[in-house]
Amino acid sequence: NKLEMELEAIEKGGYDHFMLKEIYEQPKSIADCLRGRLDAKSGRLVLGGLRDYMNKFQNAERIIITACGTSWHAGLVAEYLFEEFARVPVEVEYASEFRYRNPVVGEKDFIIAISQSGETADTLAAIELAKSKGATIFGVCNVVGSSIPRTTHAGSYTHAGPEIGVASTKAFTAQISVLAMMALKLGYQRGTLPENKYIQLLHELEAIPGKVEQALKTNDAIKYIAEEYKDVRNALYLGRGYNFPVALEGALKLKEISYIHAEGYPAAEMKHGPIALIDEEMPVFFIATKDSSYEKVVSNIQEVKARKGKVIAVVTEGDTQVKALADHVIEIPETHEAFAPLVAVVPLQLLSYHIAVMRGCNVDQPRNLAKSVTVE
Ligand code: AGP
Repeated sequence: NKLEMELEAIEKGGYDHFMLKEIYEQPKSIADCLRGRLDAKSGRLVLGGLRDYMNKFQNAERIIITACGTSWHAGLVAEYLFEEFARVPVEVEYASEFRYRNPVVGEKDFIIAISQSGETADTLAAIELAKSKGATIFGVCNVVGSSIPRTTHAGSYTHAGPEIGVASTKAFTAQISVLAMMALKLGYQRGTLPENKYIQLLHELEAIPGKVEQALKTNDAIKYIAEEYKDVRNALYLGRGYNFPVALEGALKLKEISYIHAEGYPAAEMKHGPIALIDEEMPVFFIATKDSSYEKVVSNIQEVKARKGKVIAVVTEGDTQVKALADHVIEIPETHEAFAPLVAVVPLQLLSYHIAVMRGCNVDQPRNLAKSVTVE
């Protein structure tokens, strides 16, 4: 009825959909996640939930991250963060596979379960299993008081605020923010991250909300690109290093809400199969920011162009090399490569949003999907 519609419009805060509102909330939701925990100037980094478990965390022989969907993608980013900064071996497991595999897990393992809703059945079951084998379980969840935070030994909330759109956006960036703080803390405590580098990274992380704000300004350019590609049947998303999980996430967003078949791959894997798909009809979305794998990504772009594929690339402001090759570029501010996913994912979220709207899809409630998957 009319009252309900008006209420919903108020909840959407002037945006057409919850998803768009949630994409635009990210400068604030990331800041909320960092607030009270991170203060670069004083070198302060405190995660309340970790305090009693810091010993276990620091002495863990292995970190196992378990999650589903977008939360699993955040886990992949965390694998790179933990291994680079804290030099601890990390495994990232789909909860649904982990729980049924009779995994080798024990008291020396530190499990991190990531979940926006805190209700995902497979993730809950994976936690129960690891717990029964004596591992320490740490939750990274958004919904306060949900089932996962109640079953874990400890945890940190992401404080992103309610996420209504079925396609996860602000929860993903908040999850990475928490995991980044955990990795920096662990690296510093374990002595694998020298103090000066640690402080520099704290400053970099603190600057992320402002950079996400900048990235949102690409919206008009993205609308134009969306118009151009909205009718394609397939798309490929490629990235390397920290941006490989961003490629997976970009592809998932497009699949979920616009029903276009999309695949995410580490760019170097293209030559082992997906390159066969490339022709003049195939758009390839590259995440090609200035980082340690930039030159290699540039050659991957050349390989796509040589086969007449269309290249749309997310690049660092001021880029010239990719600009000369690509059909379209989307410029985002420069960041430390470890935090690039937080900024680079934003244009891909916007792109899938606009394509879905242009195709007349139900953006906030895509067919066949539920916000939390409480069945196995
Ligand atoms: C993300 O856009 C999806 N809707 C889905 O993959 C989701 O991330 C997954 O179901 C996990 O949910 P959770 O974070 O609430 O556990």
